[in-house]
Amino acid sequence: MTTDLQGLTRERVGVSRKFGLIAAPLAAIAYPWTLRAFNVAAVESLEPSRPAHLALWLGAALFLALAFAIPLVGLLASLRLARIAGPTAAERRAELVALIVVAAPAIYTFLGVVDYMTNSPLPDEWAFALLWAVLIIAVAVSPDRPCPIASAAVAPAALRVAHGVAAIAILAVFLGFHLVNHLAGLIGPDAHRSLMKSVHAIYGSAVVEPLLVAVLLFQVASGSFLASRHLRASADPFRFFQIASGVYLAVFILGHMNSVFVYARSWSNPPIVTDWSFATSEAWGGLIRSGWSNRLIPHYAFGVFFVVAHMGAGLRMAMIGHGLPERWANRAMIGVATAAFLLALAIMLGMCGVRLDIG
Ligand code: HEM
Repeated sequence: MTTDLQGLTRERVGVSRKFGLIAAPLAAIAYPWTLRAFNVAAVESLEPSRPAHLALWLGAALFLALAFAIPLVGLLASLRLARIAGPTAAERRAELVALIVVAAPAIYTFLGVVDYMTNSPLPDEWAFALLWAVLIIAVAVSPDRPCPIASAAVAPAALRVAHGVAAIAILAVFLGFHLVNHLAGLIGPDAHRSLMKSVHAIYGSAVVEPLLVAVLLFQVASGSFLASRHLRASADPFRFFQIASGVYLAVFILGHMNSVFVYARSWSNPPIVTDWSFATSEAWGGLIRSGWSNRLIPHYAFGVFFVVAHMGAGLRMAMIGHGLPERWANRAMIGVATAAFLLALAIMLGMCGVRLDIG
């Protein structure tokens, strides 16, 4: 292996490497169309008048899997770029853009709601594609030579602790109820609705709700600041997953609150009741049949998975901070992430029509 021009190794020059810098945002551009293809195949396979074809079911499963794979492409691409020693300015920017690709499902939903509310002439798929095209150009025009990296400033301990304490408060007052509420979808819409009535009385009260919103906005702001500090500190996969899940949550929480508080409760006339029908787009045929609401399947699924797994990453740091072996801390995080995956799967199966027969 020879080194030449400013420490660039041979394999870091050439088309494939350049393609590697923009592969993740290019994949993100395809995201809306993977969902569209899923919708076409799923609606066809659910059509009672036509015999169910295995090919249609497989097609629907394949396209949904592709949609779910795009945030993972962003995560892996960003982690790979974060591990380059002495990165160029283009590589650093590519790492950040790939990290934003992790949030593609939440960005597409947020954009879709804003597009609908502003009655924008530009269809949301094209607005979405335009966003990634701009980011691809931003990477492509960045100078491809090593750029000095300012040493990573340590994140203020008080802010880390405040972020952790706020997370526990959100979990205790709201999120625990909210996620169990959505699990009730497996029993049925009535169970979901009646449980929401009870838990809404807690987090929807005139005192708690504004506090909840304020604390969630604090989480987004403090989390973004902490992520900016940690990004260059280390590229260990556990830490990287913590940052990437935080990026997803920052967009998800802002977008989800926009859907609930702004779109449904303030902008819509008459206001939309934010219950099961709203969450599952019942009025539009449900999450599978509605061409718009398909996007809510990865959006919600990653929202649940990342919020629980992100707290698992916080637990890992707390365990390491209290002197417990890193091996244990890693296992605890993997355990929480596995539980998060199963919880997200169960909730989404319920929201897509699967029912537990509890007799
Ligand atoms: C399957 C996933 C989810 C679905 C289907 C969902 C759906 C909903 C629905 C229907 C509401 C209105 C509730 C009400 O009127 O009481 C709501 C409110 C809300 N959701 Fe979610 N949500 C999900 C996940 C999350 C997650 C992961 C978070 C946080 C990280 C979150 C944060 C919020 C907040 C802050 C509110 C406003 C609560 C209020 O009314 O004061 N949601 N969501």
